[in-house]
Amino acid sequence: MKRFPAEFADLLTAKGRRILDGRDTSVSGALLDPARRFVSLQGVVDATRAAACRDALDTALNDTLVRMEDPIPFDSISGMTMNYMELLPKTVRVRTALLENRRSRSWRAAEAVGLTTMLRSDTFAAFAASVSGRVLRRKWGIQVLCYGPGDYSGPHNDHHPEEVEARDGYVDMHVSLTMPGVDHQYLVYEKDGHLSEMTRVSTVGGITVYRLPFWHYTTPLLARRGKEDQSRRWVLLGTFLDAAPQARPSSTVPPPGTGARPPARGT
Ligand SMILES: [Fe+2]
Repeated sequence: MKRFPAEFADLLTAKGRRILDGRDTSVSGALLDPARRFVSLQGVVDATRAAACRDALDTALNDTLVRMEDPIPFDSISGMTMNYMELLPKTVRVRTALLENRRSRSWRAAEAVGLTTMLRSDTFAAFAASVSGRVLRRKWGIQVLCYGPGDYSGPHNDHHPEEVEARDGYVDMHVSLTMPGVDHQYLVYEKDGHLSEMTRVSTVGGITVYRLPFWHYTTPLLARRGKEDQSRRWVLLGTFLDAAPQARPSSTVPPPGTGARPPARGT
């Protein structure tokens, strides 16, 4: 039944492997540039293999997902007392797999298709370390999201000021596995104080790597006409904290070729 390879490296194209090995200087360490919070990569995951993984994932997990919904607060307009003082908290509608709970149906299904093994593989973290240019902590978070027609996430920044380990920034890596019934979905993100940048995320095997926090949102997924039932965008996520400066090497994932380099701080 397993469909995902045990190592993320085995999904990659030659271009993807160059990035993994730190041989693509245009991508390796790209997120060390403080002006660059986001990298979108195409042609790094083999499209045929990605489509096979996507179909196995859709078959195994679609019935196991849990809806995550935070609408606009009902009193966000009626509760206002001053002009132009509207506030919008993060709004979202998406489905998610509960991969942290080993007793969940999602976890068992993800295990059966080999997804959890791949998301826990060394090369999955090594790819994030390569693009981010940082030494990452070996224990990382994994998650699966599924956007159906009309699903989206509203403007938010993913800042976690209450968490000491995350408040100076952290790295997220997303792999998109989009079904053919999807017309489009975009990520809109901040540049120079405006939500003016936009990139299509409804890809098959596109990888996006983020140095959070920064402002962004995901537009509503639009289905092709008559294809709503087969219109889903699956997202495989890894969330990586920076390794502590004195962390034991065995507890870290360094960028390729820079094993001895300390984590970049304050950049
Ligand atoms: Fe986000």
